[in-house]
Amino acid sequence: MNLEKFEEYLISIRRHLHQYPELSQQEFETTRSIEKWLLELDIPIRKTDLKTGVFADIKGGKPGPIVAVRADIDALPIEEKTGLSYASRKKGIMHACGHDFHTAALIGAAYLLKRHQSELNGTVRLLFQPAEELGGGAKQVIDDGQLAGVRAIIGLHNKPDLPVGTIGLKEGPLMSAVDRFQIVLYGKGSHAGIPHNGKDPIITAVHLITALQTVVSRNVSPLQSAVLSVTKIIGGSTWNVIPEEVKLEGTIRTFDNIIREEVKAKFYTIVEAIAAAFSHEVEIDWFAGPPPLINHKRVTAAAERSAKEQSLNVIHPELSMAGEDFSYYLQEIPGTFAFFGTNGTEEWHHPAFTLDETAIIKAANYLFETSRELLNQHLKNL
Ligand code: NI
Repeated sequence: MNLEKFEEYLISIRRHLHQYPELSQQEFETTRSIEKWLLELDIPIRKTDLKTGVFADIKGGKPGPIVAVRADIDALPIEEKTGLSYASRKKGIMHACGHDFHTAALIGAAYLLKRHQSELNGTVRLLFQPAEELGGGAKQVIDDGQLAGVRAIIGLHNKPDLPVGTIGLKEGPLMSAVDRFQIVLYGKGSHAGIPHNGKDPIITAVHLITALQTVVSRNVSPLQSAVLSVTKIIGGSTWNVIPEEVKLEGTIRTFDNIIREEVKAKFYTIVEAIAAAFSHEVEIDWFAGPPPLINHKRVTAAAERSAKEQSLNVIHPELSMAGEDFSYYLQEIPGTFAFFGTNGTEEWHHPAFTLDETAIIKAANYLFETSRELLNQHLKNL
């Protein structure tokens, strides 16, 4: 395949995935397609107990470590509004986060690695991971044993606000931990004109929401970042009745595991204390999402060298308050996650999300060259 044909091939893969998006844990057709593309490249598939996702090894001609390259493959429950000729053919489902781009780029990297297989100083493991959007797919892949023997891992996410040819690489924290909470304040209903006979959970919810604003602002150093947002409040049904209960929901995002624990503890203290002060029973549910995504120093430096050699414009990106379950891999082994410029018109998860497809071949090349770079020189010093 010449360069032009290679680009056409990758774009056709991306468009196929884009037309047939599948939700997290339901990526059955996507899995079959990826298996087919890999088998066409003569790349054998690894065994897995997972129902979706594809894992494969490209074993080099020379001995050496294993490096993993990961792409996520799932789509979102969003009705596409791009008007593209290859828009989603599945109602209410869309690749609105560009995981079709990531998958196509990894197929491209697989093609290039296969072509250079005899020269590789070790093995590159391809991880086509399901269910990133649920925040748990990476954990399943780890539990399935796909990280066994892997010394380092790389991955990337398309970035609509960066131009094509620009890559964001940064050691240390890049994306936040995503924790979610639900609170139920149990009061005592009463007539609105006779409030002393009840326990009004609406008043308490207001105090609680106000007090929660201090969790970050008065406990986390102004030089660090964290955010707490109360995003949902349900209580009451009419104007003359004090309700029985109020439900609240929200999220806390942090970039540091210690701050994450401290903020959670403060959150519990405030909720329990305010509820007690206003004589309510309270129920708190805490849903821990992915940890903060923290890039490894030397793997990031190697990726940066590799990116510069490919004439990519390397920038140190701003931190993102979005979550990414690639962070689970980085808890296990060194690695780095990059933001890859795609010059999109809309942000992630927007119904009119698009990307510039000329970035696919660049991303494929970056994954290929960087995994090769890690195998060649830099794994010894990790
Ligand atoms: Ni995404």
